[in-house]
Amino acid sequence: MRRSLVVGNWKMNGSEAFVEKLLADLIGGLSEQQAEIAVCPGYVHIAQATSLCAGTPVVVGGQDCSHVQSGAYTGEVAAAMLCDLGCQWVILGHSERRQYHGELSALIGAKLAAAVEAGLRPILCVGETREQRENGDAETIVASQLRGALLEQANLSGLVVAYEPVWAIGTGLTASPEQAQEMHAFIRSCLEEIPGVDAGATRLLYGGSVKGANAAELFFQPDIDGALVGGAALDATEFLAIINAA
Ligand code: 13P
Repeated sequence: MRRSLVVGNWKMNGSEAFVEKLLADLIGGLSEQQAEIAVCPGYVHIAQATSLCAGTPVVVGGQDCSHVQSGAYTGEVAAAMLCDLGCQWVILGHSERRQYHGELSALIGAKLAAAVEAGLRPILCVGETREQRENGDAETIVASQLRGALLEQANLSGLVVAYEPVWAIGTGLTASPEQAQEMHAFIRSCLEEIPGVDAGATRLLYGGSVKGANAAELFFQPDIDGALVGGAALDATEFLAIINAA
């Protein structure tokens, strides 16, 4: 039995005042939920978030980390630094990192190794663009993103994979539950071929315009174990509705 996981990716949003209000509303609105919950603020708000979430069911993660442990890498943040601030998770290989920062699988794989080494649980994001889907290449792309980051890893403990079709991110377009399920089943079959991964036990999150209104039908699918939520995670009422659907 895989426990549901709902993760909020706040991206480059928020201020101290915003974080304080959002987390107060979120934590105050939690009921007897069964799902595991994490929020991933921008780096500068992580310490504030871990302090506000202490003693609650909400844990904190980073949105990225460096591929090396320390050294002359101006502007980078090491996985161990995220641990220092109380992070338990880190998102890696998000399509916005791939798109705007040119991140390729080799770098993402190195980040993943650094994160696991530091004790963080990685959330590896994969997903195809609209053009790739229209060309019938969605599965090939996703398989190569998985293999590129996961093959030859010494340790994949705690791994979570998030399927985020690029065409569904921030667009209001969601993959249909059937489309998402089909890709999640495919991802699970790919994971079976990766040494060190227990495919049946690995949680697969869907991401891309998840909201309170569409969460339940996505979570109903057998291979969808939770969500990686962008825009709707910035609204406590919407995020709580997604958590309650999980
Ligand atoms: P939206 O939920 O805003 O579409 O973003 C999804 C996402 O990119 C989460 O990582």
